Amino acid sequence: MIDVEKIRKEFPILNRQVNKSSLVYFDNGATTQKPRGVINGIVKYYSEQNANIHRGVHTLSREATELYEKARKAVSDFINANDSEIIFTSGTTDSINIVANGLNFPTGSEIIVSQMEHHSNILPWQLSCERNNGKLRVIPINQDGTLQVDRLKELVNDKTRVLALTHVSNTLGVINPVKEIIKEVKKINPNILILIDGAQSVPHMKIDVKDLDCDFFVFSGHKIYAPTGTGVLFIKENVLGKLQMSKTGGGTIKSVTFEKTEYVDGPMRFEAGTPNIEGVLGMADAINFINSLGIKEIAAHEHELLCYAQTMLNGISELEIYANHLNKASVISFNVKNQHPFDVGTLLDKYGIAVRTGHHCTQPLMQFYGIQGTIRASFALYNTKEEIDYFIEKLKKAITMLN
Ligand code: ALA
Repeated sequence: MIDVEKIRKEFPILNRQVNKSSLVYFDNGATTQKPRGVINGIVKYYSEQNANIHRGVHTLSREATELYEKARKAVSDFINANDSEIIFTSGTTDSINIVANGLNFPTGSEIIVSQMEHHSNILPWQLSCERNNGKLRVIPINQDGTLQVDRLKELVNDKTRVLALTHVSNTLGVINPVKEIIKEVKKINPNILILIDGAQSVPHMKIDVKDLDCDFFVFSGHKIYAPTGTGVLFIKENVLGKLQMSKTGGGTIKSVTFEKTEYVDGPMRFEAGTPNIEGVLGMADAINFINSLGIKEIAAHEHELLCYAQTMLNGISELEIYANHLNKASVISFNVKNQHPFDVGTLLDKYGIAVRTGHHCTQPLMQFYGIQGTIRASFALYNTKEEIDYFIEKLKKAITMLN
């Protein structure tokens, strides 16, 4: 088991007072707080190591390049990929856009997403369909937020080009059986490219892209304790060649003339311009931090928090809990009956409790439930049962005040 009290000392922001109360940070699905190792790494980078990468023979540039490529290795090891399959991006949204903009399809092609997708895994595909006169098809969900996996058989056909699916719903926390789905879909049509949005799964479970057998896997650094503006696009080696560049510039080329440009092979082809170097190094620091604790131990702690909080919330009769089961990452979405989520969120904030309220960038999911939004509590490795007790106490108080 992880030592949460010791871990909490690594996160300076957890000492903050918010509205005269100790911060209780339950908005980890939106972004996680950063450990001292990541924060100090950024200071060290700008104090001692700053230089542009892949562009200089001088010592600082060579050192920065080496650190950057070491970070690529840390990321590839983290998800069991090869270094040449890792592209650094600015985040999950950027990664999905690179894929959706880089794939060309014949007119009338079809792309499958699900009812629970984040807008970032809908809109780039919607634009792609508009370009190709194609069709976006949607895997429906059940009332408990689980995917209607059986419906895939009807949805997949010979016009299907891509299945883009979230591993874990950012709003509900529901874990999709992506490995089984990938196997099924590839059985029906091995040419379908499969993108898995891992933004909400990477922080909470071991990811092995070889085992999943997906073609693309995307996630953000800032949800795994790394700086914002960092992300990863994993592309399976034999798929890399299918992706056109939607962005070019410095760092992507072998030679340039006004007549013709030759581009490099491999991930740097997709990393035009000076990247977020300190952010990428911070991602490696964050991964080292996670590895030092063990992702399985983190997952066990977070699952315990989920079970504890969900049991307590189930004891409050005024609540409607969505996806009220435990096959989830550490996320609980709920509403106070007859109250707007913003009002509840605002009252909780008065007690220093940070939760996300609203549609969580999943309006089609909100439409499915016929609601405007939810209150979402999402836990991370530094959260405690004591914080949950405090949250429940103040939530009950908020309900009394609102009623
Ligand atoms: N996608 C992030 C969330 O779910 C921002 O809150």
